[in-house]
Amino acid sequence: MIAVALIICAVLGTVAATPAQPIEARAPGDASRVAEIPALGLGTWQIGDMYQTYDVVRYAMQVGYRHVETATSYNNEITVGGGLCDAPVDREDVWVTSKLWNTAHRNLPANMAVEKTIGDLSALYLDLYLIHWPVAFKPGTTELDDQVSLVETWRTLEDLVRWGRTRHIGVSNFAPADLEIILSICEICPYAHEFELHPYLQQQEFVDWHLERGIKVIAHLPLGNTADVESNLPPLLEDPFWQSLAERKNATVAQTVLAWGIQRGTTVIPRSTEEELIFGNLEALEIDFSEEELREVASQDKKTRFNNPGREWGVDLFKGLDDPTNL
Ligand SMILES: NC(=O)c1ccc[n+]([C@@H]2O[C@H](COP(=O)([O-])OP(=O)(O)OC[C@H]3O[C@@H](n4cnc5c(N)ncnc54)[C@H](OP(=O)(O)O)[C@@H]3O)[C@@H](O)[C@H]2O)c1
Repeated sequence: MIAVALIICAVLGTVAATPAQPIEARAPGDASRVAEIPALGLGTWQIGDMYQTYDVVRYAMQVGYRHVETATSYNNEITVGGGLCDAPVDREDVWVTSKLWNTAHRNLPANMAVEKTIGDLSALYLDLYLIHWPVAFKPGTTELDDQVSLVETWRTLEDLVRWGRTRHIGVSNFAPADLEIILSICEICPYAHEFELHPYLQQQEFVDWHLERGIKVIAHLPLGNTADVESNLPPLLEDPFWQSLAERKNATVAQTVLAWGIQRGTTVIPRSTEEELIFGNLEALEIDFSEEELREVASQDKKTRFNNPGREWGVDLFKGLDDPTNL
C-alpha cells in the first residue's frame, strides 16, 4: 500500500515541481476549500518509523482530521505525503503546514527546500510555510550564518506566496523583537506564529498580542510533549489540577488540555501514535469552559519551557518571554 501511494504521490510531486506551468494554473488559492487554519491538527514530530508515520497520517485523515503539520527537519515528509495521498480525502480539503530549516534561510536553498517539501509531500502547494526558528545556519552546517538576515528570508517567503507555492507564510519560535522586524517590513505579513504553549507555559499576554493583530497562534507541544520532558513538575497529564478538571468535564486530561488551548483561540497540533488517542483528541473540539474555570487554569501557569535548543546553538532565544534562554 505504502509503496503504491508513494509512487502515485511521487508522480504528483513531479507535476508540482514542473516549472513550465503558468503561475496562474498553479495558484492554489482558488482550489482550497479550507478557508482558515483548522483549530486542531495532527503534529508529526517524533512519530516513529516511516511506516508508522504513514499509518498515523492516513488514519487521522480517515477519522476526520483536516490539518497536518510537519517540517523538513522531521525527515518524514515523504511518508506524511504517502499517508495523505492514500487517505480518503481530497488535497483541497486538507490544511498542510511545513517549515523551513535553519540551513536554508538563504534565497536559493529556501527555494530548493520548499520545492523538495512540496514534492515529498505530493501536496502540489502548501497552506502554510513557516520559518522554523529565527536562527540561520551556514548551508550544510550547524554554524551560525550572519550573512543572511530574517528580512531576506522573509522576502524569499513572500515570493513563494506570489508564485503560488504556499497560500500563507509565517514564523515559529520568534521572540517579540524578531517578530517586530518582520512586521516592520512585510509586504505579505505573517498569517501565523507557531510557538510552545501548554498549561505549564501559557504566555497569555503574548498570545493576546498576536490575536489582537490578526496573527493566528499555533500551539506546539500542546500536551507538553509528555514523553521527553525533564522537569521538576509532574507530567502534565498526571497533574492533580488537570485530573480534577478533566473529571468535571467527563473527559480525559489530554482532551481537556487541548480544549483549553482551542477555547483561548489557539490552534493545537497534538501528536500521537495511538489510534485510540488520535481519535479521542478530536473530542477536544466539543468541550467548553466557564470564565471561572479559565481563571483557575490561568492561576496554574508554571512559566516553564520544555523545548529550547538555544543553549545548544549559542543563541539567546525567547528574550522578553517567559523562561528565556539566558546564555
Ligand atoms: N515549531 C516547532 O519548533 C515545534 C516544536 C515542537 C513540536 N512541534 C509540532 O508540535 C507537535 C506536537 O508537539 P509534540 O509532539 O512534541 O508534543 P505533544 O503533542 O504535546 O505531546 C505528544 C505526546 O503526548 C502523547 N499523547 C497524545 N495524545 C494523548 C492522549 N490523548 N492521552 C495521552 N497521551 C497522549 C503522545 O504519546 P503517544 O504517541 O504514545 O500517543 C506523545 O508522547 C509536534 O508533533 C510537531 O508537529 C513544533
